[in-house]
Amino acid sequence: MTFYQLAQNRYSERFFSPKEIEEEKLRKILEVGRLAPTACNAQPQRFYLINKGTEAYEKLKKVTPFHYNAPLVILVAYDLRSVWTNPADHYYQNYNSGEQDATIAATSMMFEAEEEGIHTIWVRGFDSKSVVDIFHLPNHIVPVMMLGLGYPNERSKANPWHFQRMPISQFVKEI
Ligand SMILES: Cc1cc2nc3c(=O)[nH]c(=O)nc-3n(C[C@H](O)[C@H](O)[C@H](O)COP(=O)(O)O)c2cc1C
Repeated sequence: MTFYQLAQNRYSERFFSPKEIEEEKLRKILEVGRLAPTACNAQPQRFYLINKGTEAYEKLKKVTPFHYNAPLVILVAYDLRSVWTNPADHYYQNYNSGEQDATIAATSMMFEAEEEGIHTIWVRGFDSKSVVDIFHLPNHIVPVMMLGLGYPNERSKANPWHFQRMPISQFVKEI
């Protein structure tokens, strides 16, 4: 399958089968996250694995309703001690690249999962402070998003929003 086909086929999964993700597939997904480009190659992205059936997963349920019982959720974060900063940016105060770096890694993992036949859901519906507190993350770790992963179950289907994309002219402008 081409990348173009992968991008066309992907949709947010909200109906997961309990089937676990094979170790080898997970290794490849995480490897793609490791290889993702980062500003100045600072590599601040961090991946916390939250497996269904663990104490951590019970904590996860307390901080977001959007776990959809995915067998694995990866909390993607960045380490403030490793980010590239740009004090010369006059638009963003105290700019750092952590969120971009972590998001590129997460996006890469999302598509690698798709290639492996594993569906994903991107989740930002949580309070970062609650996540930091419940998982006892050190204060230099900033949560960015959660990626739920797993195989689809028999009810799997794309949400209607998936089909509501604006025309390309809405996105692309010449300046
Ligand atoms: C930054 C971001 C945050 C999102 N947060 C959530 C979330 O908390 N819960 C959820 O069910 N879906 C979440 N989504 C999924 C979007 O609702 C979904 O991508 C969008 O409706 C388009 O549908 P599609 O992914 O099926 O194409 C999020 C997606 C992005 C990119």
